[in-house]
Amino acid sequence: MIIAIGSDHGGYALKVLVVEQLRAEGHQVIDGGAFNAERSDYPDFARFVGEALQQGRAERGILLCGSGVGACVAANKMRGIRACVCHDTYSARQGVEHDDMNVLVLGGRVIGCELAFELVRAFLSARFNGGERYIARLKKVEALELER
Ligand code: RB5
Repeated sequence: MIIAIGSDHGGYALKVLVVEQLRAEGHQVIDGGAFNAERSDYPDFARFVGEALQQGRAERGILLCGSGVGACVAANKMRGIRACVCHDTYSARQGVEHDDMNVLVLGGRVIGCELAFELVRAFLSARFNGGERYIARLKKVEALELER
């Protein structure tokens, strides 16, 4: 799968490990930085990942910041982006199956690398369920987005 990824300094150390893991598992990674642990701004990376999805250059996105919260808030301002901080595998999988989540957000200061790898696997192996009620809810979500 083609995955766009980005993180600020708070998520940088975990991003390095996640990128390595993704590549080892055969995924194609578009890494938008940060490329060092110097202070940076999470909205810049949310924009990178969001635009890669909006332009069809990536199939899924992964964002990291210290808590995961800032990057998640920023990403959800972008049209067509459905991002969520998931630190449990149930949500990482079900968020895709029911809510068509297309960006997984992780808190680099909250979780360790093994849990992060499991969350990423749960997220990437899940597919949107396509059920009528899920589509109807997503249409309502889209209506909220278009009202802005
Ligand atoms: C950076 O210090 C930190 O605020 C950021 O990584 C993130 O946790 C924001 O939600």
